[in-house]
Amino acid sequence: MTPPFNSNANYAAPIGSEAAGAEFKDTWTLSDLDTEWINLIASKHPALYRVLLAAITDNDKSYLVYMAVRLMEMHRVLKSTGTIYLHCDPTMSHYLKLVMDAVFGRDNFVNEVIWHYKSFHGQTRRYFAKKHDTFLMYSKSDTWTFNRLYEDDNTQTVDFKRWRKYLVDGRYILGRNMPVQDSRFVRYLKAWRKKYGREPGNDDVVYEVKGQSLDTVWDLKPVDPKDKKEKVGYPTQKPLALYQRIIAASSNKGDIVFDPFCGCATTLVAADRLDRQWAGIDVSSTAATLILRRLRHDRGPLYDDVIHLTDIPQRNDLGKLPPANSPANKKLLYGEQAGNCEGCGQHFQVQNLEVDHIIAKSKGGTDHIENLQLLCGSCNRIKGNRGMEYLQVKLQLT
Ligand SMILES: C[S@@+](CC[C@H](N)C(=O)[O-])C[C@H]1O[C@@H](n2cnc3c(N)ncnc32)[C@H](O)[C@@H]1O
Ligand SMILES: [Zn+2]
Repeated sequence: MTPPFNSNANYAAPIGSEAAGAEFKDTWTLSDLDTEWINLIASKHPALYRVLLAAITDNDKSYLVYMAVRLMEMHRVLKSTGTIYLHCDPTMSHYLKLVMDAVFGRDNFVNEVIWHYKSFHGQTRRYFAKKHDTFLMYSKSDTWTFNRLYEDDNTQTVDFKRWRKYLVDGRYILGRNMPVQDSRFVRYLKAWRKKYGREPGNDDVVYEVKGQSLDTVWDLKPVDPKDKKEKVGYPTQKPLALYQRIIAASSNKGDIVFDPFCGCATTLVAADRLDRQWAGIDVSSTAATLILRRLRHDRGPLYDDVIHLTDIPQRNDLGKLPPANSPANKKLLYGEQAGNCEGCGQHFQVQNLEVDHIIAKSKGGTDHIENLQLLCGSCNRIKGNRGMEYLQVKLQLT
């Protein structure tokens, strides 16, 4: 997933391009809703809350809350065999790594992949030209899927130099011409025999000389502005080759790939080319139109079947939730809060505490226990439908 990077810029596709009309904002100011989310995180996810406190400016804090809320959902929907790749750049990668540690767990950090994109740059006089982004890669458990990938170019490997004259197409050793006097090769030959239970025939590929296995620094070109085939004109469009690599490494055919910031559908096209199932979300309606057009173009008429939903996604994994003020919820919350009102902090008997929605239902807050807290009658009356910020200010004044 490639979310906004907190670049302090707004993006719009050029008028006249295929993507014209697509735009998104990447400027941040702390809103009342951010503050309400911060309050929810403070009471329900203390480790994540401490990370948010590391933000130096309110704008950074607003960006981090926005990301934290979405990353918590990404953690929820990720399968135990899945991996998340969070694409960011040096503006926020150091903060986002802390957020990821808090949400996914430090032990689930797998790799930091650097995408180095060599492209033309003018003379930067006071610093090095900035030419890399970062992918923070996390799993959800220790059973994540991983397929080793190799560089296309194999000419720098020991095997290539050693067996050059035996190779067909610079890559394959066939049964008809094998370096059988070489003990290193004989090991591969034995493995082949064991796998197939026979001697190789003339045309059997006994060994393939692959390139180096990939490490954590990837040199891949950005989308070439002159490449009419790949470029769709969407601002921030990423290269297919980059996402294909990620998908090939971390999933198998038939698996599900999800990109919650899918832009002009690069992830979806890459996933489809590799026979994965896929789903994407983008807030921009122009992006949706463009996605359908691009998929149809890239993947053929099959894409008349793509389902495009425009209503706000609802969780369907909760079953029927008990009413917010059910005795079970009250009991759980009473334990969590050690019997104290979440506003004034005073201790009360359970019958004197009331269930409150941290994020008001009118603002999209749910009846899920994660969005509930106990307040004493007096605090609840003061707060009403407003955020905790309001209550705290009021309590300080009295
Ligand atoms: C950096 S771009 C992604 C580009 C994409 N990887 C591609 O190659 O086209 C970020 C995308 O996130 C979308 N976006 C911004 N805020 C969003 C939100 N709250 N929910 C969903 N999408 C959002 C923007 O419309 C934009 O398309
Ligand atoms: Zn109170």
